[in-house]
Amino acid sequence: MCGIVGYVGNRQGLNLALDALRRMEYRGYDSSGIAVAGTDEQGDPVINMVKHAGKLANLEARIAEIGEDQLRGTTAIGHTRWATHGRPTDSNAHPHMSFDGRVSIVHNGIIENFAVLRTEIEQAGVELKSETDSEVAAHLLAFAYNDGPTAGDFRASALAVLDRLEGAFTLLFMHADHPDQIIAARRSTPLIVGVGENEMFLGSDVAAFIEFTKEAVELDQDNVVIISRDGYEVLNFDGSAAEGKPFTIDWDLAAAEKGGYDSFMMKEIFEQPAAVRDTLVGHFSDGRVVLDKFDISNTDLKSINQVFVIACGSAYHSGLLAKYAIEHWVRIPVQIEVASEFRYRDPVLDERTLVLAISQSGETADTLEAVRHAKTQGAKVLAVCNTNGSQIPRESDAVLYTHAGPEIGVASTKAFLAQVAANYIVGLALAQAKGTKYPDEIQEIWETLEEIPGKVQQVLDSQESIKQLSDELGRVDTMLFLGRGVGFPVALEGALKLKELAYIHAEGFPAGELKHGPIALIEEDLPVVVVVPSPRGVKLLHSKIVSNIQEIRARGAKTIVIAEEGDTAVEPYANWLITIPESSTIMQPLLATIPLQFLAVNIARACGNDDIDKPRNLAKSVTVE
Ligand code: M6R
Repeated sequence: MCGIVGYVGNRQGLNLALDALRRMEYRGYDSSGIAVAGTDEQGDPVINMVKHAGKLANLEARIAEIGEDQLRGTTAIGHTRWATHGRPTDSNAHPHMSFDGRVSIVHNGIIENFAVLRTEIEQAGVELKSETDSEVAAHLLAFAYNDGPTAGDFRASALAVLDRLEGAFTLLFMHADHPDQIIAARRSTPLIVGVGENEMFLGSDVAAFIEFTKEAVELDQDNVVIISRDGYEVLNFDGSAAEGKPFTIDWDLAAAEKGGYDSFMMKEIFEQPAAVRDTLVGHFSDGRVVLDKFDISNTDLKSINQVFVIACGSAYHSGLLAKYAIEHWVRIPVQIEVASEFRYRDPVLDERTLVLAISQSGETADTLEAVRHAKTQGAKVLAVCNTNGSQIPRESDAVLYTHAGPEIGVASTKAFLAQVAANYIVGLALAQAKGTKYPDEIQEIWETLEEIPGKVQQVLDSQESIKQLSDELGRVDTMLFLGRGVGFPVALEGALKLKELAYIHAEGFPAGELKHGPIALIEEDLPVVVVVPSPRGVKLLHSKIVSNIQEIRARGAKTIVIAEEGDTAVEPYANWLITIPESSTIMQPLLATIPLQFLAVNIARACGNDDIDKPRNLAKSVTVE
């Protein structure tokens, strides 16, 4: 995915676009660039452009070299890239310019038929400057504008180009002859319009313009929007009139900035009590679980006889916990699938299947395509999502929003915890609809859920001990994470955080599976994290994991044990013991995950990876399959 900004108004477009890209750099940081509608030495309209490979700091240095005067103008487009087609180089950076230098474009997504279009452009004698799929759009627009039935007509030319593109894209077009306009289009990737006074904004997300306006417009699939100082006009791809959906943004600028922490991720880790609390708010009233936009009737909900959970990465790990909760509370089978695999193996779905699609961004292409597949099979889709108005909830039958606030750090922390809480709300709502739990049982579980934010705070307050542990641990090359029951998804999440942040090989296993192969990996001093279930829960599980710890200690492993306060049985087997407050078995992941987040941050820093918000090769949401 990439971050896109567009601006038409009275401010200097360069500075505005730079600020917007700074706030959207989490969307990709392989390169960045800005194009501004300005004038040449003779005062004739031209487009001036600057772009650079690597993080935004490189672009800023380049601007300082050439001087801001070269980039004056109050209409601008900007882009921060997560590379798909073509390496992260200067020439592959966006914006891309047409052969005649009159058109500039930025693009997020993939133009799937770019190879055919590229050949056609080359045959017309134009030499393409990049290896990207995006550049074709700039040349096609110039062709359409310079000649033929749409000649001289910016709008008609843009529509003609869009008609030829296949794939998923957000595209912004700027033409030197129309310096007070930007034409933009979206198909399956995000684009939000910001409405100011005598100024208009475009952004991949609201962070692009939140500093200037909270009034925004959501666009539909296959919408085109034309912005100028005077306002905006929404069209369909065929040129007919369409309407956007105005809304007011409820995030503020501070929420999109670091708030005194040295990284967004640390800020987000400390926001976890609020993320869980805010996600729960309003979902239990008069002894009943309440859902928000829920277009699935109670009759349909009652008739659900199986659940499929689809998600990627951390969201997938939260989905594993949904499986435990729903099977336990609702007594119906739950299957969970990594979203990228789901539609390629012909899963058996019907109208009695509930598909739970979990996504922080609501943009993840793998999850979105899985949702679309589920819908073609007649299943009901319920999205758990953190981003209002994003594509996955829009295409789902129902949505339960997590209220974690903007998550900027690429590695998911507070959104993960909020997803787990939301999944449990879904589980309880299903148990209520299907009558598999009595109201007082639901109430009792709800009360334990409501205690979680306070307990999360207690874990956060004791993070110093993890810092000390990480210092003592020193340099590690590999680490294993073990758990049983609901501790297994926690182990997977802990391993993922370490891989993402510290670039260290890490794997999560069900502790009982170790002896079937992975135990061969254990060698002297290998650090192994073990997530121990509550001794007050399933007794057998607790004693089994204690045996598993002994097995690995006997082979030289150093154990980092996450266990409940007062669990003295594990103390003799822990090289390091991290305690978390008491909780019911199903709630424990909401606490046990947090020390593993800190562990990953501290080890990453010890390895010299200070930019924990932007781990290498990653992007916050992945809008390509
Ligand atoms: O936006 P989504 O929740 O759909 O994103 C899914 C994954 O890409 C995401 O959770 C990813 O694994 C995170 N970087 C994990 O920290």
